[in-house]
Amino acid sequence: MAPAASRSPLLVVLLLAVALVLLVSAVECYSGHHDVARSSAVARRSGLGSGQYVRHRRTGAVPHRYVLAESRNSTRNSNHSSPAGSNATSSGEEQQGRHHRGHRHRVRNWIIGFVVGSLTGVISGLAMSVLFRLALNCLRGLYRSKSGTVIFTPKLIKRAEHLAFLRKDDGLASVAVIGRGGCGEVYKAQLPPEAEGEEPRFIAIKKIKNRAGDGRGAQNNLSDEESRLLDKWTRQIQSEIRTVGHIRHRNLLPLAAHVPGTDCHYLVYEFMKNGSLHNALKPNAGGEVLPWPARLRIAVGIAAGLEYLHVSQRPQIIHRDLKPSNILLDDDMEARIADFGLARAIPDSNTHMTTSNVAGTLGYIAPEYHQTLKFTAKCDVYSFGVILAVLGTGKEPTDPFFTQVDDVGIIMWLRRVIKDGNPAAQAELIDDAIAGAGYEEQILLVLRIAVFCTADDPKERPTAKDVRCMLSQIKS
Ligand SMILES: Nc1ncnc2c1ncn2[C@@H]1O[C@H](COP(=O)(O)OP(=O)(O)OP(=O)(O)O)[C@@H](O)[C@H]1O
Ligand SMILES: [Mg+2]
Repeated sequence: MAPAASRSPLLVVLLLAVALVLLVSAVECYSGHHDVARSSAVARRSGLGSGQYVRHRRTGAVPHRYVLAESRNSTRNSNHSSPAGSNATSSGEEQQGRHHRGHRHRVRNWIIGFVVGSLTGVISGLAMSVLFRLALNCLRGLYRSKSGTVIFTPKLIKRAEHLAFLRKDDGLASVAVIGRGGCGEVYKAQLPPEAEGEEPRFIAIKKIKNRAGDGRGAQNNLSDEESRLLDKWTRQIQSEIRTVGHIRHRNLLPLAAHVPGTDCHYLVYEFMKNGSLHNALKPNAGGEVLPWPARLRIAVGIAAGLEYLHVSQRPQIIHRDLKPSNILLDDDMEARIADFGLARAIPDSNTHMTTSNVAGTLGYIAPEYHQTLKFTAKCDVYSFGVILAVLGTGKEPTDPFFTQVDDVGIIMWLRRVIKDGNPAAQAELIDDAIAGAGYEEQILLVLRIAVFCTADDPKERPTAKDVRCMLSQIKS
């Protein structure tokens, strides 16, 4: 595919050149044909045999503009007794011939000018695109080391050598594991200080094992076909990951670097010291809980990040795994959506939906996905609705509470109580940890939005932009 694509500009140029040659020769041919036809008529009238004229032309000894003059002279010489009107006719024909020739030349020049102009345009366009690509590659190459490490956030990862430890076999042996997800372990590491007295900088490293490779040995045992498939898969991942690496928004956690390993990929992110929303919703060591205004701000931030992925990215990015553990909190407690684009880059990262932690993850997946097996932007809106429900009620979809109530899960429970309109029952919806602080009205409004987002019919759900607008109108 790639070689064909790189050959195609050359092919276009060649085709255009051939077209130009054909066109010019066609014009020549047409004008030659016209000359012969017209001059035979002149010759016939002037008494010169057309054969004689054609002979003159074929010998090529005399330029053909003189041939006509010669024919006129010879006509004159041979026909002294011809009437004066004959001379007038022949000078009129000469004038007509000159006019016709001038017109023909103009047409030919126009055609040649047009073709040459188009050709020049195409060639300079191609040259510009090649130069642009070269410049872009040079720029990207500045942050790409020989080992294949690509740095997307040079402000955080100043040199590729700072990540060189990942290429060692035991590189992560002494590094702390901070979490484990569908793709594998997440580690926390410190970057070497650039200057003395500099604040320590931490990164989170996500290790993603290759689909077929379970270690070097496994990769060595692969057949040629399997190795080719693995190479193709690795290249696909790299190109997707590099697309994701260039996405920036204040509510998204950007990829800081990508380090391809022998049997895995390392995705490097800035370490978020406030952890995930999943952890923040639990009371901290001092028994404090996340207050409502902070929760509302997080909700608005998630909606803004989601809107950016759905609306500003082309092709749009559907997260597919929105849940509190994929919402990280920065130093200002601002929401940062993590793992966006990973589902597209590493389709297998969702396989954990069928493993033991299925309930936790499945609680966030839109019901239509089970029938269609197709993720749409409205599936993300559904998951976001569940997050809103969790923020207001303080209960995860897996909460044991839902085994005690008649409704099947958090969404059915919420829907029924909101629809019934009983104020006492609605007050019961609110998370005990934040109830009584004067935000009940706001919390109930957010829970109503959660009900909209989790409508059974995806078409009835609002878009991420609608939700962001609705949430922004709730003043805290
Ligand atoms: N950049 C980060 N900063 C701080 N903690 C992080 C960071 N990235 C991940 N974590 C922690 O690591 C945990 C595991 O993350 P991981 O993304 O692998 O799994 P997950 O989010 O639970 O599930 P999924 O595989 O669906 O994303 C997270 O819950 C979070 O607590
Ligand atoms: Mg995650």
